[in-house]
Amino acid sequence: MKAVAVLPGNPNSVHLRDIPQPQLADQPHPHVCRIPEGRAVLVKVLQVGVDATDREINEALYGNAPPGGNHLVIGHESFGQVIEVGSKVTELKVGDYVSCTVRRPGGSLFDVIGRNDITSEETYYERGINLCHGYMTEYFVDDAEYMVKVPVQLKHLGVLSEPASVCAKAIEQAYLAQQRLQVWNPKRAFVMGSGQIGLLATMMLRLRGLEVYTLATKPGPHRKSEIAEAYGATYVSMKQTTLHDLAKKVGRPDIIFEATGNAEACFRAMEVLNLNGALVWTSITGGSHKIEIDAAKINLEWVLGNKLLVSSVNGNRHHFELGIQALSHGEMMYPGVTKRILTHPVPGLDNYQEMMRLLVEDKEALKVFVNVA
Ligand code: BGC
Ligand code: ZN
Repeated sequence: MKAVAVLPGNPNSVHLRDIPQPQLADQPHPHVCRIPEGRAVLVKVLQVGVDATDREINEALYGNAPPGGNHLVIGHESFGQVIEVGSKVTELKVGDYVSCTVRRPGGSLFDVIGRNDITSEETYYERGINLCHGYMTEYFVDDAEYMVKVPVQLKHLGVLSEPASVCAKAIEQAYLAQQRLQVWNPKRAFVMGSGQIGLLATMMLRLRGLEVYTLATKPGPHRKSEIAEAYGATYVSMKQTTLHDLAKKVGRPDIIFEATGNAEACFRAMEVLNLNGALVWTSITGGSHKIEIDAAKINLEWVLGNKLLVSSVNGNRHHFELGIQALSHGEMMYPGVTKRILTHPVPGLDNYQEMMRLLVEDKEALKVFVNVA
């Protein structure tokens, strides 16, 4: 069967290759964990989304092949349909729509209790990213433990399950951490960045009843500003209003969700957070980027204001469930809005070059995904 892969370490090595079609009895990553007897699920891939991580993997800035080979099948944002289940799988049946989580457990205590998303080991195992093959192929097998059901009525948004899990986790982490305050009723949120993560975070914070400002560069109106506003948020171009001016005008935010991918923005966000507020960092910033900040001022304000910085990456099955619930709730509250994120479908794995080109070059491409079947 066809698969899209890279040769980690070699820039621009994305290619199509032929790999064996998996069987229910296979062990997809025996170097990490084994599927218990009877618990395997075979999935036919319908769609796979790509993001900046895939771009960096193709640029050889990130990612490693599983041991014993030199290629890595990419794709970590999965959506598919169950075609066969093992004898001990009771929670899924043939025909169900699913997304499959990204990380597999290492050996830390967190991994053992199902929290591989916060593993305390340096090495992490992620399908399509690090040391485990991904989903950009026709079929895959994995443990039912990592498969999350997508409701039939939501199948048009199923490919957003993984990005939604990342947002849902980050927001949940902030709320959990803020229990330190005993009473916390955030009123205002700034979401920095209007890519898929920024827009999904905008939706999730709106669903929690917050007044949300979605900040990005380009002045609206355009698709991203329209989506943010359709969720009931205010879109702000930082070319027209600076972060500081916005905070002065509307008040300082109790929560800032940072998803720009820009290292400077992560630190600038620290300058406007409200007293007792939480800043959530989700950007994965490769390379090196030096900036000048007034460290004394930030430190003073943060100490005197009891402010909190929480960083968040990945999502385990609980976060996938939360993400899918939020997508469902969002569809009820703002019907038809989220599907506007799905801007660039690519027909078939054969068009992997076009997929990479859109991901790298097309500034209008909010979400590139492959229609595999
Ligand atoms: C993925 C996460 C992953 C992270 C780090 C992101 O693009 O969405 O699941 O943990 O990259 O590799
Ligand atoms: Zn992703």
